[in-house]
Amino acid sequence: MQQLLVSKSEPLTGTIPISGSKNGTLPLLAAAMLVEGETIIENVPAIHDVDTMLQMLRAVGIECTFIEPGVLKIDATDISSCQAPYHLVRQMRGSFYVAGPLLGRCGEAHVPLPGGCVIGSRPVDFHIAGFKALGAEVEETYGIMRAQAPRGLHGNRIYLDPRWCSVGATVNLMLAATLAEGTTIIENASYEPEVVACGQFLKQCGAQIDGIGSNMLTIRGVQRLEGIRFSSIPDRIEAGTFMYAATITGGDVLFKNVRPDHMTRVIEHLREAGARVETNETELRVIASNDRPRPVDITTAPYPGFPTDLQPAHGALVARAVGTSVLEETIFDARYNYTDELARMGADIRITGQLAIIKGVPELTGAPVEATDVRAAAALVLAALCAEGQTVIEGAEFLDRGYENFEAKLRAVGAPMVRRNSDNNKELLCLA
Ligand code: UD1
Repeated sequence: MQQLLVSKSEPLTGTIPISGSKNGTLPLLAAAMLVEGETIIENVPAIHDVDTMLQMLRAVGIECTFIEPGVLKIDATDISSCQAPYHLVRQMRGSFYVAGPLLGRCGEAHVPLPGGCVIGSRPVDFHIAGFKALGAEVEETYGIMRAQAPRGLHGNRIYLDPRWCSVGATVNLMLAATLAEGTTIIENASYEPEVVACGQFLKQCGAQIDGIGSNMLTIRGVQRLEGIRFSSIPDRIEAGTFMYAATITGGDVLFKNVRPDHMTRVIEHLREAGARVETNETELRVIASNDRPRPVDITTAPYPGFPTDLQPAHGALVARAVGTSVLEETIFDARYNYTDELARMGADIRITGQLAIIKGVPELTGAPVEATDVRAAAALVLAALCAEGQTVIEGAEFLDRGYENFEAKLRAVGAPMVRRNSDNNKELLCLA
C-alpha cells in the first residue's frame, strides 16, 4: 500500500495538460482486436488500467508496442487464444471488453466473470444477453463465461435497459456485431463520448455503423476491418477532477487538450458553486474565488448527465459549501464509500439510500483516511487540499489506475503532496 501526504494548498495556479481518456482508450484497444492488421492509437495515457488491458491483449496473442510515448501500435493479425486470464479480469472490469471481439473474430470467448466491485454490484448480464441475441451459446460455469458461435454471430435487435444505457454492454455488443452477419440494432445504447469515439474508430476502419452519438445504433456486419491511426479523446474525468481541485483551492488554472463540449453539466455545476469557467474548443480555464462554495445539488446520470465518476469530487467540494447540498447517485449502489472518510475530516454527511445530504462546514481538518477506489482517492485528495493541517491518504496507488502523473500535474500548479510506501514510510519520489 502507498500513502499520499497532502497539506492545505494555496490557490492552484498555472496550466494542466489533460491526458488521453482512460475510459476512451480501453474500448479502442478492444476494438483494435477486430482489425486483422496494424492499428496505431495516439494519446494513450500511461496508467495502470491501460497496462492491464495491454497484458490482456498480449495474453490472447496480440502484439502491442509503444512506438513513442503515448503512441501504441497494435498488431492483431493473429489471435492465438480465446481465453482471457482470470488475474487480469479480476483487476479491472474493463477487460471484459475482450469478450465481444474474441467472439467476433474467433467465434469463441472464454472470459472469467468480473465479479463484485467496491462501488457497487456490476453484473455483466446485459453483455451476455446481447451475445445470446447475436446467436452465441453462452454457459456460465466455474466463474467463467464460455460463449461460442461456431457458425459466426448473426445480427439481431438488442434492447438495453433504458435506466442505464450501459456503457460496457454498448461497447461490447457494438464490437461483437461489427463482424456479424446481417444487421444489429442496439436500442438504448450509451452515447457517452467514449462510446462515440469507439464507434467513430470502427467506422473509420470500415465498419458500417449508423446512429453514432444517438441512443440507437444500427450496425451492418462487414467481413473485415482495415487498420487506421486514431487518437484517444481527452479524459473528461481527469479534467473534471482537476477543475474541482482548482475550484476547491480558489485557484486559477488553464486546462489544455480538453473537450469542454463533453463537460457541459460539470461546467454548469462549477459555475453554480461560484467558479468562473471560460472555454474555447480545446482549452478551459477555471477562475475560482477564495469564498466558500455555494451549495449545489447533483444527480448522476448517463451522458449528457452529470458523470457518476465525478460524484465523489463534487461531494468533496460541497463539504465546505455555505449551505446544504443533496447528491443523488443513480448509477452505482455503493458509491458513497468515501463519505465516511470525509466525515473523519469534519464533513457533515448523511446517507439515505441513493442520497447524500451534505451540510457544508466552514472548515475541514486533515486526518488519516483510506481510499477504496480511484475516484474516491481523487476526492480525498481534493478535500485534503482545502483541509487545515495534513491528510494521510492510504491507498494512493488507486490513483495510478486512472490518472496519468496525478501528483506531478497537481504539484506543478502548487499542490503540496508527497507519496510514500505505507510499510516503511520511505518516500517514493516522483512516482507521479
Ligand atoms: C463505465 C465506466 C465507469 C463509469 C460507468 C458509468 C469504463 C471502463 N468504466 O463502467 O468509469 O462509472 O461506465 O458511466 O468505461 N449494469 C447491469 N448489467 C450489465 C451492465 C451494467 O446491471 O450487464 C448496470 C451496472 O451495475 C450499473 C449500470 O448498469 O449500475 C451502469 O453500468 P455501465 O454503464 O455498464 O458501467 P461500466 O461500463 O461498468
